[in-house]
Amino acid sequence: MSAETSQVEAAPQAAANANGAPFFSAKDVHAYYGESYIVQGVSLELNKGEILALLGRNGAGKTSTLRAIARMADPELHKGEIWLDGKALHKMPSYDAALAGIQLVPEDRRIIPGLTVEENMILARVAPGHGWDIERIFARFPRLAERRNQEGVTLSGGEQQMLAIARALTRECKLLLLDEPYEGLAPVIVQEIEKILVEIREAGITTVIVEQNAVAALKLSDRAVILDTGQVAFTGTAKEVLENEALRHEYLAI
Ligand SMILES: Nc1ncnc2c1ncn2[C@@H]1O[C@H](COP(=O)(O)OP(=O)(O)O)[C@@H](O)[C@H]1O
Ligand SMILES: [Mg+2]
Repeated sequence: MSAETSQVEAAPQAAANANGAPFFSAKDVHAYYGESYIVQGVSLELNKGEILALLGRNGAGKTSTLRAIARMADPELHKGEIWLDGKALHKMPSYDAALAGIQLVPEDRRIIPGLTVEENMILARVAPGHGWDIERIFARFPRLAERRNQEGVTLSGGEQQMLAIARALTRECKLLLLDEPYEGLAPVIVQEIEKILVEIREAGITTVIVEQNAVAALKLSDRAVILDTGQVAFTGTAKEVLENEALRHEYLAI
């Protein structure tokens, strides 16, 4: 076994909690939109500081899984457990789950119209549960610093994605859930966001990334889960997916 391989295998163990429980786990999660049974027994596990790529075709249930984990009202959680850093999120509404450190950056980014870049972040900090302060954000996101007084919705797509991520970091953020962060962005901007995600990991934050650009997500990730019709079709390392052409072809069409 090469030194590189053993290091990859050793890291998750070292990062697990003292009692051996993973930092984040979703266990057998079942969630419904009304009568529609969509998330059908999904389980995920992450150690602190890891990145997990949550993949699958369009309609596989990725967004629904993120929303169920973040305890949004829709889809409604009917069964399963969600644990983050020892806290039982399955017993909490979304507001309390956010206070416990789960931050969802949705696909449409939800930048608030009429507010500047800085005001978007100030608003995010009105509620209790704070993370990085705004000057730390601006030090890390120079593009946002240059545009701090510009209306947020007038930023480019990539800058809006940075603002959405930055806003999540201004909140208590132990688990960052990113829904298609690279969507519609030019490759150079994707690279810039990838660098930010590496730095976020180095700061100790744990991330789940949903991406259609599976290869880009996998290159950054430790773990991978592939969903198919609301169920887990594969759980393993990102490397295993990158190396398994049949698996990629069957579930990711790449
Ligand atoms: N609000 C909703 N009400 C009913 N069904 C929904 C709703 N949102 C998504 N779905 C259905 O749930 C399934 C999974 O959707 P989604 O989680 O958005 O998939 P993905 O993000 O993997 O593309 C799809 O069949 C979709 O039509
Ligand atoms: Mg989706």
